[in-house]
This record gives sequence, C-alpha cells and structure tokens, in this order.
Amino acid sequence: MEFTIKSGSPEKQRSACVVVGVFDNRKLSLSAELIDRASNGYIAEIIRRGDMEGKLSSTLLLHNVRGTLADRVLLVGLGKERDFRDKEFRQAIRAAVKLLNETGSYEAVVYLTEEKVKRREVAWRVEHAVVVAMDAVYRFESMKSQPTEVRRPLRKLTLSVPQRSDLAAGETAAARGLAIAHGMDLAKDLGNLPGNLCTPRYLGERALELAREFPTIVAKVLDQPQIEELGMGSFLSVTRGSHEPPRFIVLEYEQAQRKQRPLVLVGKGITFDTGGISLKPPADMDHMKYDMCGAASVFGTMRAIAELNAKINVVGLVPACENMPSGHATKPGDIVKSMSGQTVEVLNTDAEGRLILADALTYAERYEPEAVVDVATLTGAMVIALGHVAAGLFSNNDALARALLAAGDDAYDRAWQLPLWEDYQEALNSNFADFANVGSRAGGSITAACFLSRFTRKYDWAHIDIAGIAYKEGKEKGATGRPVPLLTTWLLGQEGGTPV
Ligand code: BES
Ligand code: MN
Ligand code: ZN
Repeated sequence: MEFTIKSGSPEKQRSACVVVGVFDNRKLSLSAELIDRASNGYIAEIIRRGDMEGKLSSTLLLHNVRGTLADRVLLVGLGKERDFRDKEFRQAIRAAVKLLNETGSYEAVVYLTEEKVKRREVAWRVEHAVVVAMDAVYRFESMKSQPTEVRRPLRKLTLSVPQRSDLAAGETAAARGLAIAHGMDLAKDLGNLPGNLCTPRYLGERALELAREFPTIVAKVLDQPQIEELGMGSFLSVTRGSHEPPRFIVLEYEQAQRKQRPLVLVGKGITFDTGGISLKPPADMDHMKYDMCGAASVFGTMRAIAELNAKINVVGLVPACENMPSGHATKPGDIVKSMSGQTVEVLNTDAEGRLILADALTYAERYEPEAVVDVATLTGAMVIALGHVAAGLFSNNDALARALLAAGDDAYDRAWQLPLWEDYQEALNSNFADFANVGSRAGGSITAACFLSRFTRKYDWAHIDIAGIAYKEGKEKGATGRPVPLLTTWLLGQEGGTPV
C-alpha cells in the first residue's frame, strides 16, 4: 500500500472516499463539521436520525454527499472525545481501513490523523496510522492453493495533517511507519510459515536475501562445523535430536562511525519446539512453529532500520535449530559445556531457548557492545503473568530498561519490567554442574532470565520475553510482528550516538 501526506479541506478532495470522525454523543469532528457545512447539514441530519452515534469503531459509508467532490464519505465513530487516546485512535484507523479494503474504494483521504490524541503529536498519529493500516490489510495466504480474492483492495491512503507546516513531519513519520510495517510484515511472514518450510537453513537463506536487498546489511551464516568450532556446546545440545542442520546467523549493519559501539539484538530461532525428550503435550503443539518469532523480530527490525538508513551500528544474532526427540537427543540430566566455559545440567530439554541464547549472548561479547537485547518466546509462565498484552522485560541496567519501556509505550508495543533480583538465582543451583537450566515452576519467567544473566555479565543487557505477544490464537491466529515496533523505535532513538 502507498501513503501520501496532504493538508486541505475534506469537502474539496477529489477522491474515492473521504474519511472523517464522529464522536460519541453525536459530536462532529472538525472535518466532519466541514463536510456538514458544505452539504447543508446532511451529516448532522443523519446523526439526528440515529444512524451513526459515534460509538468507537462504528462506520457508516455515504455516497454522493452533495457539496463535496469525493465519491464517498466514510463516517467513523471515535467514541467519547475526552477518552480518545492511543488505543482509540488506532482502533478507529483499523475500523476505517478494514471497511475501505472491503468496499469499492481503491484509495481514500483520511482525516482521522487530524484529531487530537492526548500526549501525541501529528508525527505520532501519522506513523501509527500507517502501521495500523498495514497491519489491518495483512494476510498470509502463500500456502493456500486458492488465495481469497479481495475484489478492490485498498491501494493508496492519503493522510491529512492540520497545517501545511506539518507536511514535512508527516512525510518523515509516514516513512518511519512504513519501514516498521515492512519489518512487521517480514516478521509475520516468517512466523506464520510452518516448521516444515521455515527451517534453520531457510532462515539462513532469508538472512542472505535480506543482505542482497539491503546492501547496508552484511549477513554471515555459520553451519554446524563452524558452530562446533566456536565451542557452542549449549546451543548444539538442543539441535542434537533433529535431522535439520542448525545455523548461526549474523546480520551486521554499520551506518554510524566505526568507533560507535554496536547495539546487538539476539533472537531465539527455534523453528519448532517439541520439547525434546521432555516432550510437550499434544494440545496446541502447532503453536511451537512460532518459537522462532524472536529471530523473526530481529530480521524485521534490521529490515526497518536499513530501509530508513538509520545512522547507527546494529548487529543481529540468531541461533537457529529445531528441538526434537530422538535417539541422538539430549536427555534430562545431561551436562553440557557452553561457549562461556560454564557447564549446565539440562534438567528439562524443553527449556531449550535459554540454552541456544546462552551461546549467542557469549558470542555477542566480541562486538564490545553498547548494549545487548535478546528477544525470545521463552516461557509459558510469561503468558500466565502478563497475558497477550505486554511483553516481559528484564535488565541488568535500569537506564536501558527505562529506554526500552519508553520505546514500547511510544510504539504501542508495550513491555512491563519484572525483577532480576539475586534472590531468584539460587533456584538454578545444581549438585553436578555449574548450574541447571531450570528452577521450580515458581517464577518461571524470572528464573529463565536469571539463567541468561549468567552469560551477560560483561555488558548492559535486556531480555524481552515475547511468549505472550508474538502470536495470536483463535479466530485471528497468526504472528503479530511484535516487538518490531518497540525495537525499531528504541534503535531510532539511539541515532546520533546518544547513550542508551
Ligand atoms: N517455547 C517455549 C515457551 C512457550 C510456551 C512459548 C508457550 C510460547 C507459548 C519454551 O521453550 C518452553 O518450552 N519453556 C518451558 C520452560 C520450562 C520447561 C521451565 C515452559 O514454559 O513450559
Ligand atoms: Mn521449549
Ligand atoms: Zn521454546
């Protein structure tokens, strides 16, 4: 979809459709007011008759409204004016775009971006309108023999800004939103692709493809002998049961000065998690194709910053493998040696994410990073704690945690911080190795983060557990593309080398 920015009166737009808002209690937005005046009170009359009450996300499509130059006028309910915030703004945009995509308009001029949203400037509204619009029209149909046809798909959205002086900020914001949306699309596509196709090798190929598409990205894909050479015994213990060979993927993006230390993103790339010998129960096991969504979000974020040519240095690291049971598989009680030299007693082979991340986090040391952020569908306990709304955030540095939380808030891709107190560490004590890979069930997401913290002592680090937010279940089943918006917003905030 294409986006442009414009400033001007709604009644004068020669467009297939003009989209204006109506608040609860029949209060017209400024742009609806202008249409109403041009049409001699037609909008007010419709509202008086009770056909549009302004309930949030409700829509009413009008044709040939007199006094206007557009073919259609779409009224969108905005809810109560004083409650019109981030969520409501995004919901209104989504409702409008869904309707436009299903009806006859190829293009439209949207005035919702002119509405005031508490604490948010016009740039925020434009960026989010683009991200939400792209999300609303996303479909994953490459696996269907007969893709469902959208008869007249929406091709172009023009977003209106209040003043001509807002045009430049609007253009920049639209480009940002589009880059984030493209990154999310990539993350969603990779996440939705089934485990028989989205293998570690496939992820390696997609990394090389990304580097071909964006010459500012350099990709290296290490195979099993090279991973062995690095001494990644923890990572390799997870891939042992699988017939699919593992990959260790490195994406380097260097567009700030050489001496600027890079920000490193690490993504969990388990392309299917059966649990291994600690086999998972069958219900919903198909969800475990999403166990590479951390990796997918790293790919998506790298794509977004490359599209924007951000002046930063970023490295993406993805350990990718399958977790399968077999005669070769790692068994509960096995002890493995990580790249850091620390030994781990694998008490549960289903706690495999931390085992592959451990070695990737040690590998990150060679970049002398400014900060390292890992992203992983790490624990089911995260879903219990925060549901499907916020990701869990853990960090050994409070300034880094605050920056990430703020980026999540800005991007409406929120995270919530949980503690990493020393008191939780003893859960990992082992009588036989340096420590175990699991504690008891209590505080499962925190002890998982504690495990990772033993591999991140040399730098500032944060861990984002996305088990609850990486994908949706039920009717809207599918990958969400989160936390690409959070990560991209955070990285863009680091342009100019301001410290984390
Ligand atoms: N990939 C799972 C975590 C997960 C669960 C993600 C549900 C998304 C939805 C992870 O590898 C796992 O199996 N974790 C175990 C850890 C346990 C054995 C300590 C879990 O959460 O049950
Ligand atoms: Mn697992
Ligand atoms: Zn897993």
